[in-house]
Amino acid sequence: MSDDKLRKRMEALRAKLADANEQYYRHGRSPMSDGDYDMAVKELERLEAAHPEFATSDSPAAAVGSDLTPGFRKVPHKYPMLSIQNTYSEEELADWHRQVTEKIDPTALEYVVELKIDGVAMSLVYEDRKLAYAVTRGDGTVGDEVTANVRNIKTIPDKLPAAFPMGRVEVRGEIYMTRENFRAFNEYALLEYGKEQQNPRNTAAGSLKLKDPKESALRKLDFYAYAILVDEAKGTHWGNLEALAKAGFAVNDKRGKAKDVPGIFAITDAWLKIRDGLPYNIDGAVVKVDDLRQQVLLGRTAKSPKWVIAYKYKTEAVETTLEEVTYQVGRTGAVTPVAHFKPILLGGTLVKRATLHNFDEIERLGLKLKDHVIVEKGGEIIPKVVSVVEAKRPKDAQAIEPPTACPVCGSELSRDEEEVALRCDNLRCPAQVTRAILHFASRPAMNIENVGPALVESLLKEGLIKTAADLYFLRREQLENLERMAEKSAANVIASIAESKGRGLDKLLHGFGIRFIGKTSSTLLARHFKSLDALRSATLEDLLGIHEIGERMAQSIFDFFREPAAQEFISRLQEAGLNLTYEAAAGSEELAGKIFVLTGTLPTWSRDEAKEIIEKAGGKTTDSVSKKTSFLLAGEAAGSKLEKANKLGVKVISEEDLKNMLGLG
Ligand code: IVH
Repeated sequence: MSDDKLRKRMEALRAKLADANEQYYRHGRSPMSDGDYDMAVKELERLEAAHPEFATSDSPAAAVGSDLTPGFRKVPHKYPMLSIQNTYSEEELADWHRQVTEKIDPTALEYVVELKIDGVAMSLVYEDRKLAYAVTRGDGTVGDEVTANVRNIKTIPDKLPAAFPMGRVEVRGEIYMTRENFRAFNEYALLEYGKEQQNPRNTAAGSLKLKDPKESALRKLDFYAYAILVDEAKGTHWGNLEALAKAGFAVNDKRGKAKDVPGIFAITDAWLKIRDGLPYNIDGAVVKVDDLRQQVLLGRTAKSPKWVIAYKYKTEAVETTLEEVTYQVGRTGAVTPVAHFKPILLGGTLVKRATLHNFDEIERLGLKLKDHVIVEKGGEIIPKVVSVVEAKRPKDAQAIEPPTACPVCGSELSRDEEEVALRCDNLRCPAQVTRAILHFASRPAMNIENVGPALVESLLKEGLIKTAADLYFLRREQLENLERMAEKSAANVIASIAESKGRGLDKLLHGFGIRFIGKTSSTLLARHFKSLDALRSATLEDLLGIHEIGERMAQSIFDFFREPAAQEFISRLQEAGLNLTYEAAAGSEELAGKIFVLTGTLPTWSRDEAKEIIEKAGGKTTDSVSKKTSFLLAGEAAGSKLEKANKLGVKVISEEDLKNMLGLG
């Protein structure tokens, strides 16, 4: 390469990486795949090493990247939060092992291999065994304080047990979001912001930076601890992980020990096979020298410690061509573009479709019809179009024009200013009506067996129903006249519809599909208000008084009950004789009349909250343990009450046990 070309190439790489850093750390977006990012960093590093004359002092290849956000208190890191070396190649991992063994006697060497959780690094500082503050990586030297949001995470204890020293103890780990919570949150995000989140990691990063901890709690973040930092290193990393687990931190149980390179690969190969089945995303494995003194001996470079390396898994990517884009209309009217491509095999499954999320995504990809595209299995298993092979763009490639009318009902589509999603605002749009009814009948809601897409569509087509409430007024003869409906199955449908009348308020509320109100909030509301009438007449303040009901949720519930269509819907349900009350689930009968005593710090509820919850479910609470006590609810650092309960043979339960009794587990 000529000097001129070389300089241009390096400039281009720097610009690309600087943009990716900016997008990722400031806006929580990933403009390129992790693999492409790592490759660009490697290429730039290589060029900078070979041609230092063209290197710059602020190279994005050397930068840790920065998540610092204005408006957050800045806290300096006592120990810098460095990045770690990473590699996709077996040879490079073997090279690293060779370097380690130059300093450490291989017979005294042991590695700990852990999953590399794809989340956000977090530093937790405990002072005198109490969580004092939680800080993001920031620029590696200074981070943003996000303690209030982190306190919502149940796998982060507020207090450390006595086995830990007083004074300052720092715990590091990864904040992440499970795939399931991500999916659930994304449904909400689509409603709330009209746009889907890219992936669990970016969502977790964004959630940590929310100003309202209640809002942040909705995101259901989790945490895996992976390090304890103290001034004087002794013992082993493995031992520290065990101590963390004992202290109540979640520590990933998939970890292994290895002595050499084949030992490391035996573990990482096995994990690769179970990767897709894990409830969270990983992007590889982390290999660490176990002995903490050996770690100190190995030291670090300016950028990263020498005793640790990440071995990243390659993502399978396949090229295909985009044949068509269709549009899907959701329950709330959001219109989502779907890419249809020439079928390909990806991770052993035949793939022909992928959601494109929204038009911003199409623009970002620069996607045109007939383009050659690269499809990857995204972290969430769902296939994803990651890039366009522009060099192969055919002459007749066509621009993808956003639709102006709803593909189902033909109404004009709207686009809110800050919303990315196109929306069909016609509440009578058959797509929305169908999906709303199916949601009502779905298993987590009213669980009406035998009422599926085909039946709902034909009932709507024949004009036999307009809303889900009309299901309760169907007669058998009407069903028998439908195509492909035998006498027997008509009777079954009528029976299962009738049977669902008794499901109760929690299921019914979920079935309503009120914006921002999912399954958990429905149960919470039902348990709190006990009847639809009480909920309907609740004021905004009443609603806001409930733990876990944020402002947007409260407003949405309040507005829902004031909509004429909703009022009509509810009076039809009343007329049909549905159970509009909440009766404590079978399990929570256990609580009726029982006497509870609370002690210690509970993982997620304050003691007052727990008391309130117990009393609402029919239990009683008192302050001291006696023979009459039914249960001692004990948390972290329970003291004399626990002793007394044990002596008297009073049953001791955890917050989790209580949740199970309440059917919240
Ligand atoms: S150890 C100094 N262990 O991967 C060593 N990191 O740059 C600190 N990560 O964002 C890192 N799982 O937060 C370590 N089991 C694990 C990890 C892990 C995920 C993250 C880390 C950082 C990135 C490494």
